[in-house]
Amino acid sequence: MNWDDESTNPTRVVGPAADGEDRAVEAALRPKDLGEFVGQERVRTQLDLVLKAARARGATADHVLLSGAPGLGKTTLSMIIAAEMGAPIRITSGPAIQHAGDLAAILSSLAEGEVLFLDEIHRMSRPAEEMLYMAMEDFRVDVVVGKGPGATAIPLELPPFTLVGATTRAGLLPPPLRDRFGFTGHMEFYSPAELERVIHRSARLLEVDIADQGAAEIAGRSRGTPRIANRLLRRVRDYAQVRADGVITREVAARALEVYEVDARGLDRLDRAVLTALLTLFGGGPVGLSTLAVAVGEERETVEEVAEPFLVREGLLARTPRGRVATPAAWAHLGLTPPTASGQPGLFAE
Ligand SMILES: Nc1ncnc2c1ncn2[C@@H]1O[C@H](COP(=O)(O)OP(=O)(O)O)[C@@H](O)[C@H]1O
Ligand SMILES: [Mg+2]
Repeated sequence: MNWDDESTNPTRVVGPAADGEDRAVEAALRPKDLGEFVGQERVRTQLDLVLKAARARGATADHVLLSGAPGLGKTTLSMIIAAEMGAPIRITSGPAIQHAGDLAAILSSLAEGEVLFLDEIHRMSRPAEEMLYMAMEDFRVDVVVGKGPGATAIPLELPPFTLVGATTRAGLLPPPLRDRFGFTGHMEFYSPAELERVIHRSARLLEVDIADQGAAEIAGRSRGTPRIANRLLRRVRDYAQVRADGVITREVAARALEVYEVDARGLDRLDRAVLTALLTLFGGGPVGLSTLAVAVGEERETVEEVAEPFLVREGLLARTPRGRVATPAAWAHLGLTPPTASGQPGLFAE
């Protein structure tokens, strides 16, 4: 089961990918310009310079690559880039471009100065990627007409445009593609204080009454991710309406998130199941991934790709050559005491 894919799991309230409801409300919650965009000081400052300079020259902005985990604001920034340049935006994604022809059709219909947003750019097909190199560098594509030996390539001039690529996996981009971006912005996880600002802003737009302490409580459980913060805010608002007087206080937020099984650190049921098994069944490890997965009744991939990245980032779990190991913080978080005698290390390792 893929816990971050809404088609198989509609319920993971701390999943970073957008579900149907997210998509519907995100449009309303998106900051419209750089001034409204919370946090990411470095990327914001750099991008501001790139855009201001291009505007002053009366030129189209350089191509921009945005890399970072899901839900950190890449799509939002791409729309802001278009808005700041006063340009229209065309939105597509790597997986939507199967053939080079698909890309040629999009490129040849761009208006001068238009922003082309290519989400999940690392998932584009090889031939399309090669066509993109030339389009980015020379604003030109070769359109192949006909098939077999009679096929001819007709060069086509493109108007200058700005490509904004987004990727969760910058490391997967071939260097020739990466090198053709004039500017790369690395998006980072947000601090709790920044998430509080995101939550206050969203609460205002959703007309939800929230206390500072309530926003802080939600921010601390949002895993550094605005998308999750906005989603938790909506769930807490539901609770506040049904079980309280509609106002989100610290207490209301904490009780609501207990109902949704999101703990004080933002761990959900799956995360806690993995940690609990590691601590109580295997004495804190080391234990092999497969064994751990069987113990929690999940697929290896689910444990490795869905639960572990956040546990590692939080310093609760370490991946070692001998297997998964709990850190002292993991014992403390679950309120358990580590065993004093050092059991039989390696027994469960693969
Ligand atoms: N810096 C930010 N300030 C305010 N809201 C943000 C910020 N970054 C993201 N968001 C909100 O989080 C949600 C997800 O952002 P999005 O741009 O779709 O993320 P990504 O494309 O990186 O997955 C949107 O609703 C957006 O409004
Ligand atoms: Mg996006």
